[in-house]
Amino acid sequence: MKKPPYHVGFTSQENELPPTPLAVTGSIPNWLSGSLIRTAPSKFEVGSKSYRHWFDGLAMLHKFSFHNGQVQYTCKFLQSNAYRKAKEKNKIVYGEFGTDPCRDLFQRVFTFFSSPSPTDNGCVNINEYNNQLTATTETPQPVPFHLDTLETLHNFQYNDQLGGQLTIVHPHYDANGTVYSYVTKFGYKSSYQVYSLAAGSATRQLIASIPVKEPAYMHSIGITENYIILTEFPLVVNPLELRFSKKPFIECYRWKPELGTKIHLVHKSTGEVQQFVSEPWFSFHHVNAFEQNGDVIFDIPVFNDTTVIDQLYLDHLRNNPVTDVAGQLYRFHIHLEEKKVERRLLSKASMELPRINYARVNARPYEYIFCAGNTIRGNFLDNLTKINVTNGEILVWQEANCYPGEPVFVERPQAVSEDDGLLLSIVLDAAAQNSFLLLLDAGTMQEVARALAPQRITFGFHGQYVLSAAPEQVYQTIHR
Ligand code: CO
Repeated sequence: MKKPPYHVGFTSQENELPPTPLAVTGSIPNWLSGSLIRTAPSKFEVGSKSYRHWFDGLAMLHKFSFHNGQVQYTCKFLQSNAYRKAKEKNKIVYGEFGTDPCRDLFQRVFTFFSSPSPTDNGCVNINEYNNQLTATTETPQPVPFHLDTLETLHNFQYNDQLGGQLTIVHPHYDANGTVYSYVTKFGYKSSYQVYSLAAGSATRQLIASIPVKEPAYMHSIGITENYIILTEFPLVVNPLELRFSKKPFIECYRWKPELGTKIHLVHKSTGEVQQFVSEPWFSFHHVNAFEQNGDVIFDIPVFNDTTVIDQLYLDHLRNNPVTDVAGQLYRFHIHLEEKKVERRLLSKASMELPRINYARVNARPYEYIFCAGNTIRGNFLDNLTKINVTNGEILVWQEANCYPGEPVFVERPQAVSEDDGLLLSIVLDAAAQNSFLLLLDAGTMQEVARALAPQRITFGFHGQYVLSAAPEQVYQTIHR
């Protein structure tokens, strides 16, 4: 089989770079004065062993800094425990999402999350906790780093007894900077521990504890003014299997469509939980949610099953030219009085890695989604798409041989509308085997500028835009 043209985006890039000025075509507006910070799996082999899944590779931090229309690029490996141990022992030491290190009876084993400590390979997102910029994966072990130098800082510690082993890299933030998220506690009695965390605090407050026999794999949550939404897909695990099986973390999970997808609405202030059941479906990313006439509405790209997880194994991504990672955008309407869930297709676009103008419209009725998509189904992610959810209108940016990542929205100062700003996306040019940072006008989806990176950048998942003036208060600028 012929390798897909983008396969180089899934091969290791181990070259760290000091701040390097980039050549720019077009014109970067002077008001863009901050940094795009992203994390991505960038090292897939250690010693004689290889990681197996895209979510497993050791994290590299990437920074594009903007000042006076110029841009500088820096990249550096996150010095997580998972990275440092792997370098020290020249082998994979910590288990990851789809990789388990060889278990040796005479060795202590670091599985994905069980003792002695879970992986802290923050290759999935950048989040702010307790005024610290951190790189995160799906264990409750954020790794703080310095915005200026990308140096990894001391270990992050929560100051509470919440416990739990598995969490999400997509918490929500309200206008005060309070974090809303949950952690799954596995054990004889397992539960989803839904919590809040005030800005500048390391003490999580339990909102609700939802008991569950076989916990589900969930990658994000929804939020409205009053509710936190957990969509519990029927991809579930027996906690005993997770603890004692020799399989990698995600391979312990089973797809049980007969369970349907359960929707838990957790009231933010009372902790009351209401439950609803819809047909079985799977997703990674809640896009947005809001309340309307006492009902709850949420938008999310839907997959009919979990084939997408299997297609994200590196062997598949590098060698199989058909990878369908984009979902179909559905709007779910929860009728609270009638205890009923309805869903309808919101757009014909295939989509993933959705972003919105978070500070302006999160948890509110809104118009625009910015995401990656595919123009031809099965063609990985080959475009950037803007979807108007009120009328279904779609605008697309696409270029031959180009494979863009998540578009991060940055609002223009004094913006007059929801889409008044820029989208920043790292694009792999498969023909040139190199990457560039693309800046699009979020209103028109037309190119404003591009900055050529000095080397190929591996495909990643998520990142954030940070104002350089307030590095310790990330979401003061992008989420509030
Ligand atoms: Co994600």
